[in-house]
Formats: sequence, C-alpha cells, structure tokens
Amino acid sequence: MEFDGMWVAVADVGRDARGGYLRDAWSAADLELREWFRQEAGRRGLDLREDRNGNLWAWWGDPEARPGVVTGSHLDSVRQGGAYDGPLGVVSAFAAIDLLREQGVRPGVPLGVACFTDEEGARFGVPCMGSRLLTGVVEPDRARGLTDDDGDTMADVLRRAGRDPAALGADPETRRHIGAFVELHVEQGRALVDMDAPIGVATSIWPHGRWRLDFAGRADHAGTTRLADRDDPMIPFAEAVLSARTAAERRGVVATVGKVRVSPGSANAIPGHVTAWLDVRGEDEHAVRDLVAEVGAGARVGCESWSPRVEFDPALAARLAAALGGAPLIGTGAGHDAGILAAAGVPTAMVFVRNPTGISHSPEEHAEPADCHAGVAALADAIKELADELLV
Ligand code: GLV
Ligand code: MN
Ligand code: MN
Repeated sequence: MEFDGMWVAVADVGRDARGGYLRDAWSAADLELREWFRQEAGRRGLDLREDRNGNLWAWWGDPEARPGVVTGSHLDSVRQGGAYDGPLGVVSAFAAIDLLREQGVRPGVPLGVACFTDEEGARFGVPCMGSRLLTGVVEPDRARGLTDDDGDTMADVLRRAGRDPAALGADPETRRHIGAFVELHVEQGRALVDMDAPIGVATSIWPHGRWRLDFAGRADHAGTTRLADRDDPMIPFAEAVLSARTAAERRGVVATVGKVRVSPGSANAIPGHVTAWLDVRGEDEHAVRDLVAEVGAGARVGCESWSPRVEFDPALAARLAAALGGAPLIGTGAGHDAGILAAAGVPTAMVFVRNPTGISHSPEEHAEPADCHAGVAALADAIKELADELLV
C-alpha cells in the first residue's frame, strides 16, 4: 500500500537522537515536511496552494467551482513527540485519495488534502494557529508578536522562512473552499483498545486552555541568604503544581504543568522569577475555569489560548459510524484543527485509529500498520459519504 512508502519517507524527518520528534512550526524539519507535502501533491497531479497563513492545500478538482471535501491534519509535533500525531492524518489523506482513484471513484465535488500550520503551538504557545488564523479567531497582530524560546517573534520567523507576516489573518476565500472536513488522527487514549475496535468516530472535544503563570520573587545567594529573608518564587510555584493536582482530582478535570522557565536558572541562586504553563481540560468548562482561578491565586495569570467545547455534528457522526461498520463513537480531551473548523461552522468529523497503549505526545505513541491501513479505508469511505452529502 502506498501508505507504507509515504510513512517511511517522513519517518526520520526531525527525529531526535532520543527517539522523539522535534518538528516545531517553521523549523528546518517542518520546512522539509512541507516540501514533502508539495511533492506528494505534485506526484498525484493535485493543485498545490499555500494560503496566507501558511496552511497547505492539495486539490483534486477546482474548489473555486464549488466547495469540496477536505481531509488532512498537521505535520508539526510537540517537543519530543511521537510519529503519529498529525502525520498519520496527512499521510492517510494522500493514501485515501489513491484508494479512491484505484476504486475508480470520480467524486462530484473537489477533494482537498490539507496540512495545517503549527497545530501544536509548541513554538509560540497557541495551538491550532493555522486554523485559528484562517477562521479569524486569533488576531493577526497577536500572532505576529508571539515569541519563541529564543525571543524571535512569529513575524521574524515567517520572514526567515520566506513568508510575508503581513499576509496573516482571516481568510474567508479559503474558508469557502471547505464544504466539509474530516480529520483522521491517532487516538490519544485507550477507548478503542479497551473496546477492541480499530477505528472510532469523534463525538466531542472537551473545553480546554493554556494559561501562563508568572511567579515573581527576588534573586539572591543560595548559601548566604537566611530562609526568613528569602523571596523565593519557586515555593509558590511548587505549591501551585501540587494544588493543580489535588484541585483536578476534586473538580473532575485534568491539569498539567509541562513547561517551566526559571530565571536566572542557577543551581546556587534563589530564582528571581518562575514562569509555568498550566494546561487544563475537562467535561465541565466551569470546573476548568474555577481550577485556574484557584491554582493561579498566588501568580500573575494570563490566558494564552482557550478552546470551547466542540460537539461534532451528531447526525453526521452517527451516519459515519454506521458507514464504517458500526465504529464506536468516542469523545476526546485532545485539541484538533477539526475542532476549530467545526466551531467555525464547517460540517466536520474525525476518525480515530486505535493506539495500543493510548500513549501520545511521547515517542511511545504508536498505531499498528494494519490499523493504519484500516484507517485509510475508513477515511476513503468517510470522504465518499461527505462528498455525497455535499452533492444533495
Ligand atoms: C493537541 O494535541 C493538544 O490537545 O494539545
Ligand atoms: Mn498533539
Ligand atoms: Mn494532532
């Protein structure tokens, strides 16, 4: 199957010696993957476009003539991420187009393969940046001014990548091309493996957000400063981490501190400043927000991104699940470009592929080849189903 060749072609791009992937948006690895996407589009005679926000589109048919069915995902990764989160959806999208062609399907609507820019937000902090800009839920001025860990703004980084930062912003023209969207994704939990099902269909995405917590103190000498004289921001930071855990248990949500910056970062100096990032998600939006207020009480708190609950069209999900032979319907706590598009009014669905351990955002993330192949077949069926809907 063509899937396997494409999978091998991307397998080493951005892979770190420790086994995980470093595919920050607009990094050398990301640019190499974008070039790979361009070539895959070219090999199939698809019309390649890059929109004003850096999202890539490979069209079979003309989306100016009528809106089409789009499928795809992203090629960037979290730091030290796995191989499947994102690329599985893009590689499967090309493979599904191949399968439809092998089946002799001549869709009555244009079909597009999409690669969304900067889905993870690993570099600039805000996830799903490409789809948020496209749909106008992030102001381009804010996006341009976001900085990475080196202090480079998104505008600087885009310019270095040969893109025009002034072009960023809502893109109703590209949005009009998307009649329906389906994203295939590796499952990031254990629902499917526990149900012994290779494929699932998404029902909803939990509300979730990322907050920056700043703890200010006073840098001083680690040996000569009496405990009573210290203003050590590491102490309220540590209390916040522990309280995030206990508050999450009490409120029935999940909370994570996965990134911390300590300044100046010397082993023999009391820190002057600690910045931590708090990711909170849950079924109940109020519980999520109440937890942030509780945990952030001792810090300056800034919301870096907020993603409201997404309910994928239940009738569409049910039809798709039936078309896929009774695939189970499952919810998720992971964010996706599909969620941003659904919130913007695009008829949207997601297909999940079983992950044997459920582990994700880690080099241990995995899906068996047979399940990936089943995912491609399911995606081809989903595309046919959505194309039929656009035709009525
Ligand atoms: C994206 O993968 C997210 O849910 O953080
Ligand atoms: Mn992810
Ligand atoms: Mn993803």
